[in-house]
Order: sequence, then C-alpha cells, then structure tokens
Amino acid sequence: MKSDSKIQVPDGLDLNAIPAHVACIMDGNGRWAKKRLMNRVKGHEQGAQTVEEIVMASREIGIDVLTLYAFSTENWARPKEEVKALMHLLKRFLKNKTEELRKKDIRLNLIGQIQRLPDDVRKQAEQAMAATEKNSAMILNLAISYGAREEITMAVQQIAAKVKSGSLDPKDITDNTVSDHLYTAGMPDPDLIIRTSAEFRLSNFLMWQAAYSEFAFIPTLWPDFTKQEFYQVLIDYQQRDRRFGKV
Ligand code: FPP
Repeated sequence: MKSDSKIQVPDGLDLNAIPAHVACIMDGNGRWAKKRLMNRVKGHEQGAQTVEEIVMASREIGIDVLTLYAFSTENWARPKEEVKALMHLLKRFLKNKTEELRKKDIRLNLIGQIQRLPDDVRKQAEQAMAATEKNSAMILNLAISYGAREEITMAVQQIAAKVKSGSLDPKDITDNTVSDHLYTAGMPDPDLIIRTSAEFRLSNFLMWQAAYSEFAFIPTLWPDFTKQEFYQVLIDYQQRDRRFGKV
C-alpha cells in the first residue's frame, strides 16, 4: 500500500519496506494503573488513547493490516466490573471513531466471537463494520473475544462439515484451506507481532498465522507506547533478515 506522501518520514524508516501486517498484543494496562495507585480501568482508558495513536500512525506509513488484541476469550473470566468497563471502552471507540476511520479509508473488522458480545456493543460493531466496509487503504482488525485455539477449532469444524457433505475431498486439504477458514482469510500473515510490557508469550493470539512472524517484545507498558516508539520498533524490524526457513 502506498503511504501518504505528505507525512514526515521518521528518520531511518524505509517507507518502501513497510511490513504489510503488524499485530499488537496490548499488554500492561493494569500495571500502568497500579504504578499510579489508580483503578485498572484507568489503565485501559489510557490504553484506548494509545490504540487511536497507533491506528493513525499505521495508516500514515502505509501498513495494510493492523491487528490489535483487545480482548481474549480468557478475558471473560476477569472481574465483572473490568469486563464491563472494557466493553464500554470498546463501544465508545466504535461509536466515536467510525467517522474518522471512514474518512481515512480504514476498514474496521472484528475478529473473534462477536456473538458473545453484549447486544449494544455487537450492534455498534456491526454498524462500524458496515460503515467502513468499502474502505481499502488499511484493515484494522480488532481481536475481541478472540482465541487462536477457538479460531482453529472453528476452522476444523467448517472443513469437516465440507468433507462430510462431500464438497471437499480430504486429500485436497492444504495449509491454504486452513488459512481460508480463519477470521483472517484473505489477509497476509502478520510480518511482525509486537508485545508490550516485557511479557514473552503469544497468549493464544494468531497461533496459525504467526508461523513466520517476527516478534518484538518491548518493556514499555501499552498506555505509554507512542507513535515514535512504534516507528522505532519498525526500524529495528527492517534490519532483520527474514529467511522463512531457507538459507
Ligand atoms: C492487557 O493489559 C490489556 C487488555 C486485556 C485490554 C486491552 C484494551 C485496551 C488497550 C483498551 C480498549 C480497546 C479498544 C480497542 C478501545 P492487562 O490488563 O492484562 O495489564 P496487566 O498485565 O498490566 O495487568
């Protein structure tokens, strides 16, 4: 994707070698709040600001797909009040930002169990996806009630159903067949997965798609993550030698 020619090119960033797909595990909101003796929800609120900054920073430099891990299938087990606050923040983001996403030609796409969301949040999400469905400069995947094991299980069920009905021969199943039944069907695999807050785990995120992803584990807590640091992570990524198992 061509980037916006008006942007100030960050020093050292090669705009001709921008990764097509960047994914972020947005971790550290709770610790950010705890350090300030605040409620965890304050950390999520500040984290939502970072979401806005990173979405626009990604669009500016011509990233094709940005995937943000906002709520995992496991996060439903957090205290009721925290789940409620996260759903509220998500709804607010969808409500307030749809117009800006539309103007910036960004297509919003939710990946995960949308059917598990509270009705009002689900409706807001469907509205935002419909309002931006024709946009083509960037896809913003929000992973909500997302879990890679659930995603892969769902793909296996769909493939098995096709085999059972006779529309698919097991010997024609390839890794592309699996990719085509994931939430990210038709999108490139993530080139780079960034996890903030000095945790070194994948946490059930894009497990199939991450087969050849590069990883950046950085100490900054998500609410403190800035556009400048994001660009620095991309500059570091551009120095890497990706061999995809070859020499
Ligand atoms: C992980 O930090 C973060 C989450 C579970 C939620 C991420 C949500 C946001 C960034 C804001 C809302 C999202 C949108 C799209 C508006 P943690 O709570 O596990 O932090 P901790 O490990 O420090 O406790």
